[in-house]
Amino acid sequence: MRIVALGGTGFLSSAVVEAAREVGHDVVVVSRGQHGAPPREDVTWLRADRADSDALAAALAGIEANAVIDSCGYSVGGARAAASALAGVPRYAYVSSISAYRDWPPGPIQDEDAPLFTPEDNPEDYGPMKAASERVLGGAVHAHGGNFLAVRAGLLVGPRDRARRLTRWLERIASHDAVAVPAELDQPIALVDVRDLAAWMVSAVERGLDGPFNATGPHGMTTLGGLLETCREVVTAAGGRAAVLVPVPEAELLAAEVTPWVDLPFWLPREVAGTAWQVGTDRVHAEGLVHRPLAESLADTWAWMRETGLGEDPSEADPVLMRLGRA
Ligand SMILES: NC(=O)c1ccc[n+]([C@@H]2O[C@H](COP(=O)([O-])OP(=O)(O)OC[C@H]3O[C@@H](n4cnc5c(N)ncnc54)[C@H](OP(=O)(O)O)[C@@H]3O)[C@@H](O)[C@H]2O)c1
Repeated sequence: MRIVALGGTGFLSSAVVEAAREVGHDVVVVSRGQHGAPPREDVTWLRADRADSDALAAALAGIEANAVIDSCGYSVGGARAAASALAGVPRYAYVSSISAYRDWPPGPIQDEDAPLFTPEDNPEDYGPMKAASERVLGGAVHAHGGNFLAVRAGLLVGPRDRARRLTRWLERIASHDAVAVPAELDQPIALVDVRDLAAWMVSAVERGLDGPFNATGPHGMTTLGGLLETCREVVTAAGGRAAVLVPVPEAELLAAEVTPWVDLPFWLPREVAGTAWQVGTDRVHAEGLVHRPLAESLADTWAWMRETGLGEDPSEADPVLMRLGRA
């Protein structure tokens, strides 16, 4: 197949390019150039802005594509432009998000029939933008008789992750003697490695799957505590010294204005934490999404961070313990 990768030089989108090439597809990457070049040279790389339908059409003129994997949907205008240039391609996979669900967080999200944000919601906000983009692209692709896959992705992990969530935990754990963690370490969390998700999306467009799919790890796959312990094991296995985890009660963290998710990545306040990662994923797992072990995702991320010089927290001690006056 010839697959157009909208995006193809970033985190998930690079993994899409690798996965498609690994199974022998022709890949045409479309990006603006701000994230540099695609991860490999055996692809065609076209420069265009997804939000500019004329530029997109001009760049893609003469290219007969069998499928599109669109990993760079950040505006409804961009979805309209992509629809006008590419809705005639018979298979279109759009990376949406579980944020498209009106009730997430706190969830739970039973399955793909849970209500999405509607046209009345502000399309400038991330969740409503994803829901509106699904409507724009899905409507256009279906009007042309094609198959439209809405991939409602959960939390992505893996090499090339520049989102400063998992990477922040790894660098803190590797850099300090002790790090503050929320005392509620039993809160569930579900994640998906971009390489597993990318391989699944390629296989899904090969099979012409249609409809929405929640795409994250299964509910109960791990907890925040399990994730942080695995970070410690990975750092130690790579020859480093892993910090002691210092559990701090939620009330003490909030009193010190330690912000959930931001200052302590992945930490959700108690009223959200119990249900946020209860997302029904039966459909995607029945259609073949397979997860590598979490330890492998974290070890590969840590190896990539050290190769890229990202593995050291410059603060002299854990910044959250310092803020709490405990360092
Ligand atoms: N990270 C998460 O945990 C998470 C969770 C749920 C859903 N998602 C969704 O997953 C998708 C992938 O996220 P990611 O962070 O991994 O993205 P990514 O692959 O790093 O996406 C950026 C890529 O898209 C290109 N791009 C961005 N804007 C573009 C534009 N206007 N025109 C053409 N190319 C453009 C970038 O290249 P240039 O900048 O050079 O153009 C780059 O190749 C996104 O749709 C995101 O909303 C992410």
